Amino acid sequence: EETKSWKKMVNIAVSGAAGMIANHLLFKLAAGEVLGPDQPIALKLLGSERSLQALEGVAMELEDSLFPLLREVKIGINPYELFEDAEWALLIGAKPRGPGMERAGLLDINGQIFAEQGKALNAVASRNVKVIVVGNPCNTNALICLKNAPSIPAKNFHALTRLDENRAKCQLALKAGVFYDKVSNMTIWGNHSTTQVPDFLNARINGLPVKEIIKDHKWLEEGFTETIQKRGGLLIKKWGRSSAASTAVSIVDAMKSLVTPTPEGDWFSSGVYTNGNPYGIAEDIVFSMPCRSKGDGDYELVKDVIFDDYLRKRIAKV
Ligand code: LMR
Repeated sequence: EETKSWKKMVNIAVSGAAGMIANHLLFKLAAGEVLGPDQPIALKLLGSERSLQALEGVAMELEDSLFPLLREVKIGINPYELFEDAEWALLIGAKPRGPGMERAGLLDINGQIFAEQGKALNAVASRNVKVIVVGNPCNTNALICLKNAPSIPAKNFHALTRLDENRAKCQLALKAGVFYDKVSNMTIWGNHSTTQVPDFLNARINGLPVKEIIKDHKWLEEGFTETIQKRGGLLIKKWGRSSAASTAVSIVDAMKSLVTPTPEGDWFSSGVYTNGNPYGIAEDIVFSMPCRSKGDGDYELVKDVIFDDYLRKRIAKV
């Protein structure tokens, strides 16, 4: 019989596990799309009282899929049980906004959830846990979470701005008439909100500055920027609910960026803790900035970025 050497099992905790985003994400995780074909995983699915039946349904579907890498599925509503020894915590569960709302309007309701989950991570998760906060407003929720988890390095907490990065790459590629893999060095500065700054000064198309390829600089400053800032809201109008599949894809991208060495010269965006940042951004907040990883789960901030008046002013207004 063939013997295969498996890596040690990794616990992945997912909150909001009965929701739409998770429904796309969990099957990618279980299929090995994120951590690779030799990495067994356990999925620890956190739901709410209200979603428990649905969560049982999710677990049934996962089991029925016979994923070779999926060694355990556990469901529940107690984060102190589900977060035990978690190496990853993907915090999706939160009340989503409806049409016409800003993400910040969710803070009261969702802030409490993230304080509790921060405490639970602090108590039971791996000290090395990487936390990706998706529920909105994700920057503030990530900050609340890390403040409630003082024994886990603040550096381990991320607010997801990868969806904005992906949206920005797509729009630049469409405008330039190139395939989107030609767009690199795409930074989203700030919050996952309508004040975020998609950075077309440092971004590159085919290795060249975007402004050399796209000559319509008014479009970059206005049309492009607004499109990215408002994309989530527009999608809610179209669908009647917030983005789910593309969000799940961007969570996969965000995880992969931390476990794969960043390609030479490129970077990715993530909302991370600002202490010690080299850009002059206020300390002690969570703010999306350009990051690179050696593939060990950790990251460092990119030093060689440039600023002009427009970019400085926009960043100051986040
Ligand atoms: C998104 O950007 O699609 C999500 O954050 C949902 C939202 O509220 O916009």
